[in-house]
Amino acid sequence: MEKFLIKGPTPKGVLGSINCSGAKNAALPLMASSILFEGTTVLKNIPLVNDVKTMIILLQALGSKIELFKKKKIIKITNIKKHKTLVPYKLISTMRSGVLLMGSLLGKYNKCTSAMSGGCSLGIRAINFHIEGFKKLDCRYSLNKGYINLEAKNGLKGNRYKFPKVTVTGTSNLLMASVLAKGTTILENISIEPEVIDLIKFLKNGGAKISFLGKRIIKIDGVKKLNGCTHEIIGDRIEAFSYLCAGAITRGKIRVKKVRPKHLNTELKVLKKIGCNLTIGKSSIYLNAKKKLKPIKIKTGVWPLFATDNMPILMSVLTKVIGKSEIIETIFSNRFMASPELERMGATIKLKDNKATIIGTENLMGAECIASDLRTTFSIILGAMAADKSSKISRIYHGKRGYSNLVQNLRSIGVNIRSIS
Ligand code: EPU
Repeated sequence: MEKFLIKGPTPKGVLGSINCSGAKNAALPLMASSILFEGTTVLKNIPLVNDVKTMIILLQALGSKIELFKKKKIIKITNIKKHKTLVPYKLISTMRSGVLLMGSLLGKYNKCTSAMSGGCSLGIRAINFHIEGFKKLDCRYSLNKGYINLEAKNGLKGNRYKFPKVTVTGTSNLLMASVLAKGTTILENISIEPEVIDLIKFLKNGGAKISFLGKRIIKIDGVKKLNGCTHEIIGDRIEAFSYLCAGAITRGKIRVKKVRPKHLNTELKVLKKIGCNLTIGKSSIYLNAKKKLKPIKIKTGVWPLFATDNMPILMSVLTKVIGKSEIIETIFSNRFMASPELERMGATIKLKDNKATIIGTENLMGAECIASDLRTTFSIILGAMAADKSSKISRIYHGKRGYSNLVQNLRSIGVNIRSIS
C-alpha cells in the first residue's frame, strides 16, 4: 500500500506558491444537489480528489450522466432519466457525504432508501437532526436492516424546523429537501459555513427561492423546478490553511492563491497572533514565518469561529512553538488523532477530555506514523517536514480523499517527499 517518505527538515523553510483547488466540502453537496435540477448543471473549479471521484460513481449508479474535463476542472452532470432512489451500502460505506443524497433524492422524488453511511474516526457523527427535519416536512421515516427509508406519500410540505445544534450537512440536506417542497420552509439555527452559502447560491442560480430572515434563519419558498445552470465552486479554505501552516511550521514563505481570504478570517488572525507576517490580497494570502513564533490558546467552533478541520493542522505547527499552547475542540469527540503520531516524533501533547495542551519543542525527530483521517494526514505531513531525518507515513489514502496533487504541490514548495509502496 502506498506510503509517503518525507525527509526533513525542509531547508530554509518552504518557499513558493500553491493554487488552491475548489473546496471539497462545497463540491460534494453541489454535486449531490444536481439531482434536483432539470437538464445539465456545470460545476467549474471541481477538485480532483478521491471523495469527488466516489461521488461521481454514486451519481452515475443512480442514473446521472457525468462528463469530467480534468484539465479544465469542469464537471457536467446531466439528468436524462429518472434516478434510482435506492443508495446501496457498497456505494455509501466509503464516504460519509453520501448522506447528502438523501436530501436531493427526497426533494426530487419524495422518497429515498439509503444505507446508513459508515462510522467515522472523528467520533459520533449522528444524523438525527437531518431525520427530524425531514419528518417536519411531512416525510415518514423507518429503519430496516441498516437502511433508512424516507417517503413523503403526498409530497413534501414546507414547515418550520430549528436545528438543536448547528450541522453543516444537516443544513445542506434540509435545504435540498425543501427547495421543491410545497409551500414555505423556515430553517433556524442553520450552518452558515462558506460551503453552505455556496450551495444556496447554486440553488438560487437554478431558480430556488431562498432568503435570509436572520443570521442563521432562512426562508425557502418551494418552486416547481430548478433549471440547469453553471456555477464556480469556491476555493478550499482548509487546503489554503494547510499550506499556510507548511510555511509556519518550517519558518518559510508561502503564497496561497485562488481562495477568498475572508473565508479564513479567524484562522488568519490566529496565524498573525502567533507571529506570522501576512499580506492579504483579493484572492491570495502570503505568509512569512521568519520571526520567532509564540504559543496561543484557541477553541474550535462553527463558522465564523476556528474550523475544526483546521485544528489538527494548527496543532502540528504548535508542537514547534516554544511555550505552552492550548486547543479546545468543541465539534467532534475524537479529533486529536494526530496527537499520538506527532508524539512519535517527539512532540509533547497532553490530552484531557476535549482539551489538548501542547508544550512546544525545537526538535522533532522523524518517525513511522499512521494517518487515520483526512486532516490528520496533513497534520502528520507537517510534523514530518519540520522534523530531523525521515518519516514514513502509511494509510495516506485518507489524505487523497481531500487534497489534490498532494505530492506534486509539496515538492513544488521544497518539501522532500515521495510516494513509496
Ligand atoms: N450532529 C448531531 N446530529 C446531527 C448532525 C450533527 O448530533 O444530525 C453533531 C455531530 O455529531 C458533530 C456536530 O453535530 O458533533 C457537527 O457535525 P456536522 O453535521 O456539522 O458535520 P458534518 O456535516 O458531518 C462537515 C464536513 C466536515 C467538517 C464538519 C464540521 C462535509 C462533507 N464534511 O461534516 O469535514 O469537519 O462539517 O465543520 O462537509 C473533512 O473535510 O475532513 C471533514 C470531516
